[in-house]
Amino acid sequence: MNLPFNVASHLDAALRASAALLGLTDRGFQPEVRVADPANGDFQANGALAFAKSEKQNPRALAQQIVDQLGQLDADFDINLAGPGFINFRLKPGALLGWLQAYDSEAHLQAGAASVRLGQTWLVDYSSPNTAKQMHVGHLRSAVIGEAICRLLAFSGARVIRDNHIGDWGTQFGKLIWAYKRHLDQAALASEPLEEFERLYKLGNSSAEADPAVLTEAQQELVKLQAGDAANLAIWHEINRASLAAFQEIYDQLGIRFDFTHGESFYNDKVERIYRELSEAGLARESEGALVVFHPEHPRFAKQPFLIRKKDGAANYASSDLATVLYRAEHFHADGIVVVTDYRQADHFEQLYLTARKWFAAKNHPLPELHHVTFGAVTGEDGKALKTRDGGTIRLKDLLHEAQERAFQLVSERSPDFPEAERREIAGVVGVASVQYADLSQNRSSDYVFAWDKMISLEGNTAAYLLYAVARIRSIFRKAGLDPAQPALAGATAPETAQEVALARKLVKFSDATLLATSTLRPHFLSLYLYELAGEFSAFYAADKVIVEDEVVRTRRLLLCHRTLVVLETGLHLLGLRTLERM
Ligand code: ARG
Repeated sequence: MNLPFNVASHLDAALRASAALLGLTDRGFQPEVRVADPANGDFQANGALAFAKSEKQNPRALAQQIVDQLGQLDADFDINLAGPGFINFRLKPGALLGWLQAYDSEAHLQAGAASVRLGQTWLVDYSSPNTAKQMHVGHLRSAVIGEAICRLLAFSGARVIRDNHIGDWGTQFGKLIWAYKRHLDQAALASEPLEEFERLYKLGNSSAEADPAVLTEAQQELVKLQAGDAANLAIWHEINRASLAAFQEIYDQLGIRFDFTHGESFYNDKVERIYRELSEAGLARESEGALVVFHPEHPRFAKQPFLIRKKDGAANYASSDLATVLYRAEHFHADGIVVVTDYRQADHFEQLYLTARKWFAAKNHPLPELHHVTFGAVTGEDGKALKTRDGGTIRLKDLLHEAQERAFQLVSERSPDFPEAERREIAGVVGVASVQYADLSQNRSSDYVFAWDKMISLEGNTAAYLLYAVARIRSIFRKAGLDPAQPALAGATAPETAQEVALARKLVKFSDATLLATSTLRPHFLSLYLYELAGEFSAFYAADKVIVEDEVVRTRRLLLCHRTLVVLETGLHLLGLRTLERM
């Protein structure tokens, strides 16, 4: 029998069928299949234990009854009972071979994975910087984590919509336009637009502080913009256009392409409906001139209402985000919405989603799954916010540049004989990948400790280590005169030695790693898996010579090399990294 991409789900189905024959399903039996400690097997079903307890039965006897009904499963698995009633499953070598034969390319892995969210639409709102400002190191995480989440969701079969929810509307434009009209440096605008906008804003701000007349003028510029004045709108468009073009240079390096850039301004004409609907639903009410939503049942928000229209009648972040949820549900028919920002916005999104839940229920509109994916701060090794030597914020542009320079050192030490142009090209990939991977290899909820030496290194759980593993396998094929794109391994036999078997067993768990990373929206589960896989490959490669005379042994081992290559590359691409032929 052919095993599916995710072996655990296959076991889950078999255990459910077996439990149904015993009449346990109606009484709430759950198989609870998970990846096992390799010493015990490949997968473990824990469900008999909890169920037997609730039914006051002997768990081991119950587990045995379930196993007795499993029928054909022992063709592929060694099955045994352990402890008080765990069922352990160990894949037999023939079953391992079957799986490895089926999943021989990125495309086939993708096809295997794509059933989980097939037919669903997921919208991911990430990066989402404010315009007229540089992206700094703090903006890195949302972009990197968001892109990995997009790719994981697409891998599981969803149609993914990437939406850059830029902050392109706000009171800062008054001072900015005031300064733009009087002090714009055209040459600076052409070469470094974001620096120029920052300079202009600072100038507008200090002038307004020094002179009340300037403050009034700046406020009038804002009022004119909001009223649709043509000249001010044109400047505002120019600022946003130039900002996005500058952002795109960074997105290009990170491999990011947005489908939409519906910034805050896109929702300007959509907030009136929010005030009306929430008031009609009895959720919003006036309080001291403002419009607010109370959540009396909530321990914190009962006293801290969600302000959705300011006293002066202006919209705010909350009203615009409510309009955003509605638009994504109505226009894109999103089944799921993911917004990626740092943890400091946790309260905002909790109140937003709480409000949306009540509101959608009141109007009987299906509610998408709402996720706020948060992450911690970026700190230096001293635990403090990451700064330049003179205390300024680090620009993302400079950071990526430095990463590539440092990677160039590393590559030049390792492969001094490569032509310089190639070393530069490799360093371009390794530098950016190192920065991405350092972020994605840590649990996103933790602060991200930024340490160049750990990040750009061939040792440890780093991008360079994994990219090197990829390049090393490619070189095995080069030396054997084989093309990994058409490896001709049809006659390969099942794994035999301890290391061959261990590597094959690890390869089969790729699906569990991607599933876990996708269901929790935490890419580090995939990173950890790839790191462990590379380690398993090293152990195999050290123990078992691949290019040997014996054709049967050689083909069998080349199959393992090839599938390790395919899984490593697929996994790294899912994280948003580019991979290399050699390094
Ligand atoms: N522009 C915001 C910021 O820089 C992030 C926007 C996130 N998305 C959203 N729908 N609120 O903090």
